[in-house]
Amino acid sequence: TCVLSIIFLLESCSGDRFSHLFSEDVSNISFPDDFLWGYASAAYQVEGGWDADGKSESVWDYDAHNHPDWFPEGQNGDVACDAYHKTDVDIALLKYQGVKAYRFSIAWPRVLPTGRIDDINEKGIQYYQDLISKLKANNIEPIVTMHHWDHPRVIEEQGGFLNESLIIPAFLEYATLLWERFGDDVKWWTTFNEPKQTCGGGYDYGSVSPNRQDPGRGGYICAHNLLRAHAKAYKIYNEQFRAKQNGKVSLVMDTSWYEPASDDPKDIEAAQRKNLFNYGWFAHPVVYGDYPEVMRERIAERSRLQNLSESRLPSFTEEEKAELKGSYDFLTINMYSTELAKWRDDEPAGEPSIYDDTSVTTYQPDDWEKTITSWFKVVPWGARREVVWIRDNYGDDKGILVTENGYHDDGNNMTDLGTRGRYHKLYLSNINDAIYKDGVNVIGYMAWSLMNDVEWYSGWQINLGHYHVDFYSDERTRTPKESAGYYRKVVTTNCLVD
Ligand code: NOJ
Repeated sequence: TCVLSIIFLLESCSGDRFSHLFSEDVSNISFPDDFLWGYASAAYQVEGGWDADGKSESVWDYDAHNHPDWFPEGQNGDVACDAYHKTDVDIALLKYQGVKAYRFSIAWPRVLPTGRIDDINEKGIQYYQDLISKLKANNIEPIVTMHHWDHPRVIEEQGGFLNESLIIPAFLEYATLLWERFGDDVKWWTTFNEPKQTCGGGYDYGSVSPNRQDPGRGGYICAHNLLRAHAKAYKIYNEQFRAKQNGKVSLVMDTSWYEPASDDPKDIEAAQRKNLFNYGWFAHPVVYGDYPEVMRERIAERSRLQNLSESRLPSFTEEEKAELKGSYDFLTINMYSTELAKWRDDEPAGEPSIYDDTSVTTYQPDDWEKTITSWFKVVPWGARREVVWIRDNYGDDKGILVTENGYHDDGNNMTDLGTRGRYHKLYLSNINDAIYKDGVNVIGYMAWSLMNDVEWYSGWQINLGHYHVDFYSDERTRTPKESAGYYRKVVTTNCLVD
């Protein structure tokens, strides 16, 4: 019997080592009193008014207008949710939802149509001033992203993020303008949203505008320039604005959580490597002043194998390292899902790629719950492990803000308590465990998103909103789904209710 039960134990252990983590017994737990509850959005996805009042074309406008298949069925951000004309409507919704913060982005081509400071569009400035003033009048804290992927097309025509002598000074002019005009009112700033996507998708493997493809190289060059622009902007804030404005500045990072596929030390190392290549690519430079060592070593080694004379990963000068180190006032995470990481012994063959540089295989088990976007499976426990890992690797004394979390479906299911509502509840319960059981300093949570919007490439065929938007009426009518009611209860009670 002993032997038999050992065999049985082995079997049940090797069955699914993650199943016990998917607990749903999570009601009635409360959050810290000052927990910052909010919603997140981005200009291109909600504003519309793509050429209103002097705005120029962004890279997304350009691709949507010039490539018929950029979005399905001609859907795009030209009108989007028409938020550009509906500030009062949306503020009323935010107010009703009870949130304390609203994360939104400023469209660079709306305030600087040429991308440069010589041509300030006062009407664009006015739109954001009005939004910010009304948020504040309703006690909703603005959290502003400076770049959520939609830089001016004219900047791209001159090389965009690959042209360091353009993108760095242009971004610094833009950031300085925003602090001059809005810095007295806005206390939470982030320079760039998901630079991993801006650079990976935009300049490496190609999947987001401007969709320029230079695998294994373009992404690293873009990120290098972006990080230097971020650090220099942070320095400008310190030197010119901090004393008077006393705000916080960071950048918004994203990653799937990479969990070791087994207890094998090799898989543990594989997961660590994946987390460092994804989150660490940006967190390491802003916290410690340089890329993670494993990135520097691996990419140099792989570049040698490819007979290149130097590493595809550029290096920072000592001065740049010093500027980067500590260039953040809070840490951030856009979290959606988890993948398992497995060690691979062989070197990936073929062309360089920023994914192959890790030499790690990742996957999601078939029986994990899917959303409409197959790779965004529902894995709430990954949220807890992710923020614990961020604390363990980068510290949490400045606080960790969850800058996005949300559930993908087709956007039309109004009775979404059991799907989207449940998703938020389970992720939040894991974040709550991280706060109270693991002692992680998570300071707030931004649900993505208040309303259905223009999801990149998918238009309104995939959506995450708590409010449905009628994209087929001029009114763009917003209608609450069950998830809106659920999130409102959580936010207003500060507690995970049923
Ligand atoms: C991350 C991006 O920042 C946001 O723009 C997007 O809509 C969400 N993920 C949902 O996919």
